[in-house]
Amino acid sequence: MLITVQSGEMLREAADLAVLVTFEEIPLPAEVAGLLEAADYSGHLKQSLLLYPRGAVTPRRLLLIGLGKLDAVTADGVRQVAALAAQRARELQVAAFTISPLADLPLPPETLAQAFAEGLELGAYSYSRYKTGLSKEQTFAVERVTVFTSGAEEALRAGVTTGQVVARAAALARDLANGPGNDITPAALGQVAIELGERAGLRVTVLEEPELVEHGFGGILAVGQGSANEPRFIVIEHGQQAVGRPTICLVGKGITFDTGGISIKPAEKMDDMKMDMGGAAAVLGAMQAVAELGLPLHVVGIVCAAENMPSSTAYRPGDIVTTLSGKTIEVLNTDAEGRIVLADGLFYAQRYEPAAIIDLATLTGAIMVALGPHAIGLMGTSQELADRLGRAGEATGERVWQLPLWDEYREMMKSEIADLKNTGGRYGGAISAAGFLAAFVGDYPWCHLDIAGTAWVERPLKAYQSRGATGVGVRLLVELLRGYVQ
Ligand code: BES
Ligand code: MN
Ligand code: ZN
Repeated sequence: MLITVQSGEMLREAADLAVLVTFEEIPLPAEVAGLLEAADYSGHLKQSLLLYPRGAVTPRRLLLIGLGKLDAVTADGVRQVAALAAQRARELQVAAFTISPLADLPLPPETLAQAFAEGLELGAYSYSRYKTGLSKEQTFAVERVTVFTSGAEEALRAGVTTGQVVARAAALARDLANGPGNDITPAALGQVAIELGERAGLRVTVLEEPELVEHGFGGILAVGQGSANEPRFIVIEHGQQAVGRPTICLVGKGITFDTGGISIKPAEKMDDMKMDMGGAAAVLGAMQAVAELGLPLHVVGIVCAAENMPSSTAYRPGDIVTTLSGKTIEVLNTDAEGRIVLADGLFYAQRYEPAAIIDLATLTGAIMVALGPHAIGLMGTSQELADRLGRAGEATGERVWQLPLWDEYREMMKSEIADLKNTGGRYGGAISAAGFLAAFVGDYPWCHLDIAGTAWVERPLKAYQSRGATGVGVRLLVELLRGYVQ
């Protein structure tokens, strides 16, 4: 989608469709007000009305979309309104549309334009890779959007560019997490990383099974040993380690399908477990955006990819696994596999002596019980990092909510016969999982993001989502990382 910013008056410019963003309690332009009965439309958030002005204004169609009260406008409201505009344009099969002034809102123009471009791109997303024989109507895509403004053009253009980069990165993550387990295997994730590296100029290393054995990645090997789709360990690196340039490590859980293993899951909804690599998808998406934005940071993306299957070669309950760190894990439940692969990835991250380690994982059903689909669960060892993530969550709408990580939760994960066990009992399951991970990060500032409740939606909760993968984490991470630059 090509998004351009232009100064001028939208209602006097020819277009098949013009989208007028309106506000509650702010009168419409007289020529538009004349087209409707006032009671029909108030402009509350996401309200929309399609009009055929028949010459009252220059555009052929006029779509009003409400952004609510002017003083209560948020970036997430802007994102949703933009998404609705893109979706209505697609329904109307309009390849190009114009949209009206964004200046004079209580948000900085760059922030606003970024949210706007994100909404347009995210809203236009659809996953149709495996649909054959689609009609022209079904594959129709909006090609051009012209944003009319009365000022701040340069700032708006900068915001649009950032927003498009970020939203395309989120689309990559959505494509990966929507992809089926038979195609999105650990090897396929490795291939995606290699292609991303070539495309965006990133250094990529993919370790295959013999190398994992050679170097002692015992956690990833144990989880992956039941599957014919061999595990991978992926490192993708942007920028150089340099004075004044912090190193940030992003670690993603990449279970390409989670059957539960020998501790097998019930059949119902098991198909959703193709999204158990949502953390890995977010890391890959964020790396693409970081490279395209050219952020002056050293960012290391780490993906622990394996398929969790039951078979005669699968790891079993009772097994004791020696991880990359040398620490041993007693496996009580093979379905608590994410923490086992992350143990290797988190320990590996320490070699970069990072200023921050952030892991993203669809780790526990317990976080869905605690927070539902409306927040990412956050637990960590650095309050400064947690606060940064909290602010990034507010700015992006990918909100995080912190839970405590007291020593008691780490105690829950101690084993009688090994260093750790991989389950800690029924209660507080999201936090005890974090307590387990904490054993592998040393003293480095670290936060864990449990995205099990937010990586997938049965139906959209926001206008810029669609059924399936949300790409959650990409926009959050990019916002966090941009915060290290200023
Ligand atoms: N991948 C699941 C967690 C999950 C559940 C993600 C629902 C997305 C939606 C994870 O590997 C898992 O199975 N966790 C277990 C841990 C338990 C065995 C300690 C869980 O949450 O039940
Ligand atoms: Mn599991
Ligand atoms: Zn899992």
